[in-house]
Amino acid sequence: MATRWLLMLLLGLGISGSVLQVHGQVDKLASFISIDCGLPENSAGYVQNTTNMRFIGDAGFIDAGTNHNISAEYITPALAWGWHTVRSFPTGVRNCYTLRPIASAGPTYLLRAMFMYGNYDGLNRRLPIFDIYLGVNYWSTVNINATDMPLLMEVIAYVHGGTVQVCLVNTGSGTPFISNLNLRPLKKTLYPQVNATQGLVLITRSSFGTKKNVRYGYPDDPYDRVWLPWTMPHSDKWLEISTADNVEDNLESFEVPSAVMRTAITAANTSSPIRFSWDAVRNADHHIPGYIWMLYFAELQRDAVREFYITVNGELAYPRVMTPLYLATDAIYGRQPDDGFDRYDISLNATANSTLPPIINGVEVFLLLPTTGVATVLQDASAITAVRDKYRVKKNWMGDPCMPRKFAWDGLSCNYAISGPPTVKSLNLSSMGLSGNISSSFGDLKGLQYLDLSRNNLTGSIPDTLSQLSSLTLLDLTGNRLTGEIPSMLLKRSQDGFLTLRYNNNPELCSNGNSCVPPKKKSNSMVPVYVAIPIVVVLVILLLLVLLICMRRRRQGERLD
Ligand SMILES: *[C@@H]1O[C@H](CO)[C@@H](O)[C@H](O)[C@H]1NC(C)=O
Ligand SMILES: *[C@@H]1O[C@H](CO)[C@@H](O)[C@H](O)[C@H]1NC(C)=O
Ligand SMILES: *[C@@H]1O[C@H](CO)[C@@H](O)[C@H](O)[C@H]1NC(C)=O
Ligand SMILES: *[C@@H]1O[C@H](CO)[C@@H](O)[C@H](O)[C@H]1NC(C)=O
Ligand SMILES: *[C@@H]1O[C@H](CO)[C@@H](O)[C@H](O)[C@H]1NC(C)=O
Ligand SMILES: *[C@@H]1O[C@H](CO)[C@@H](O)[C@H](O)[C@H]1NC(C)=O
Ligand SMILES: *[C@@H]1O[C@H](CO)[C@@H](O)[C@H](O)[C@H]1NC(C)=O
Ligand SMILES: *[C@@H]1O[C@H](CO)[C@@H](O)[C@H](O)[C@H]1NC(C)=O
Ligand SMILES: *[C@@H]1O[C@H](CO)[C@@H](O)[C@H](O)[C@H]1NC(C)=O
Ligand SMILES: *[C@@H]1O[C@H](CO)[C@@H](O)[C@H](O)[C@H]1NC(C)=O
Repeated sequence: MATRWLLMLLLGLGISGSVLQVHGQVDKLASFISIDCGLPENSAGYVQNTTNMRFIGDAGFIDAGTNHNISAEYITPALAWGWHTVRSFPTGVRNCYTLRPIASAGPTYLLRAMFMYGNYDGLNRRLPIFDIYLGVNYWSTVNINATDMPLLMEVIAYVHGGTVQVCLVNTGSGTPFISNLNLRPLKKTLYPQVNATQGLVLITRSSFGTKKNVRYGYPDDPYDRVWLPWTMPHSDKWLEISTADNVEDNLESFEVPSAVMRTAITAANTSSPIRFSWDAVRNADHHIPGYIWMLYFAELQRDAVREFYITVNGELAYPRVMTPLYLATDAIYGRQPDDGFDRYDISLNATANSTLPPIINGVEVFLLLPTTGVATVLQDASAITAVRDKYRVKKNWMGDPCMPRKFAWDGLSCNYAISGPPTVKSLNLSSMGLSGNISSSFGDLKGLQYLDLSRNNLTGSIPDTLSQLSSLTLLDLTGNRLTGEIPSMLLKRSQDGFLTLRYNNNPELCSNGNSCVPPKKKSNSMVPVYVAIPIVVVLVILLLLVLLICMRRRRQGERLD
């Protein structure tokens, strides 16, 4: 499978091709989020020696799952720390990490999830297969194919609304887990194919002519894209060439690291082509997605006469003859996806005039990811998330509240409009052990029709914001420890028949003025009579007083008439 290309040489996550140059890159580092999943909750994280990158634990990004170390037999001195631990998710169908990139970056981000099983559960059980989602959009299927082979998934996409969620979904073929999760802001111009409705899933990103076991990432690549040697077998003879000189990226449109461009392959002679290929993979819905490819060229030999054609599946991909620039990056890429091929064959062949064989320095291949899944209205998603965080609701409350529909949160139902994003319609948090006051965030769920908070331990007063929920037809606050008055607007809506309002068994709740609502039923029939009698006496006296005041008022009123 094509997605395997990347996976081979990642074991030494920290090996880098060049000496660290922190100079001028510090602010980039600050915008990276590098999570080593499964580190102990109290871990301070660590700084990777080779890159100066800070890796942190995942406790602040998810509150589900369990931490594990991989099995000791897979921990070798060469194995970077990032692979030593995993977080696994034996419960829940969907478990999500929530990342908050710094606001000034974006909107385009690279997200990278990495997996190495390493027999972390000691069962060496059937290797798991599960799905990974980017927010509400299916991203890929994670097919753990070997115990000790790391798997890398990368997507480049827009992030909306300040947060992005990466969700692992149990599809019934083993327990999902994850080793590492990275987020890197990208300059928007780097991948012009990415927009609000489509992202790019990485198939391969390779540097030609690079020695085995060398990988380039940060700081060679300021965006920490990972470049690996080309490892696919090829039938033609390739020659490796390189230069010690810097390869310029004059246009700054691709920012392929100089380290990647400094090495290349050429064909053996002008009469042989450079050929390579990849097989298309089918999507979850079994159709073949579109592929986007980017080919990077730079001339490494002085005074060369090198010209060649570039063909994809036999069609000229570039209408003219390619003549790479000396020590400067040039690229050919598809803006529109090539659609529907089972296999992609790239061929570079020299023109009759060329005295040198064709050359290529780097390649990236992506498949197109539709990101058209509609998420819950942002205001509702934020409000319900605030509610979750305040009351520490666990359940399956992760990812988008309403979408995809099959993963909608328990205890919540949504209004799926034909046009426009879903909103939260009802919320049942009955008997959930909630404590503290009633969150004013409930008041932000503008489409809410039912709110059941009964049989919890809620205290404080009923917030006024609840009366602004114009669609609310049921509010059940039975069996809490609420105090103060019921907002008059709520009472009015209830009296007018628009709202079913239940508030029994809130002993200290007052419904009108300062008089507390008497409990409907005596909760304890064993209450001694000598307690009851004085209460009755007081009530009778109060009643008399009220009557007296009313009569006096009325008399005054009559006099005024
Ligand atoms: C960094 O280097 C020091 C000293 O060689 C070593 O003790 C430490 O484990 C290294 N840390 C990481 C994260 O590799
Ligand atoms: C993982 O290993 C470390 C160090 O060997 C140990 O302190 C920690 O308790 C282990 N964690 C788990 C979840 O077993
Ligand atoms: C794992 O992937 C490799 C490389 O694609 C393939 O050769 C091998 O057959 C796969 N193994 C399993 C068990 O699927
Ligand atoms: C994103 O790009 C695709 C392909 O060019 C286009 O069809 C789509 O309308 C674009 N989406 C937006 C939101 O611009
Ligand atoms: C060019 O290289 C190919 C492959 O190495 C070889 O078979 C062929 O004989 C070479 N042709 C010439 C003209 O050298
Ligand atoms: C090289 O490619 C061009 C354009 O596709 C084609 O016309 C030509 O026959 C090819 N030459 C060789 C030697 O393959
Ligand atoms: C090869 O060079 C000749 C003479 O400069 C030129 O006329 C011809 O168009 C060139 N052919 C190609 C394919 O570039
Ligand atoms: C909320 O859930 C409880 C327990 O599952 C149930 O008794 C109650 O009727 C539900 N409330 C609403 C408004 O559906
Ligand atoms: C309710 O809260 C009080 C104090 O906050 C606590 O003492 C009590 O145990 C709680 N009751 C329940 C059922 O959680
Ligand atoms: C609930 O309590 C918090 C913290 O004590 C307070 O900031 C907030 O205003 C209260 N909300 C309501 C609706 O009383």
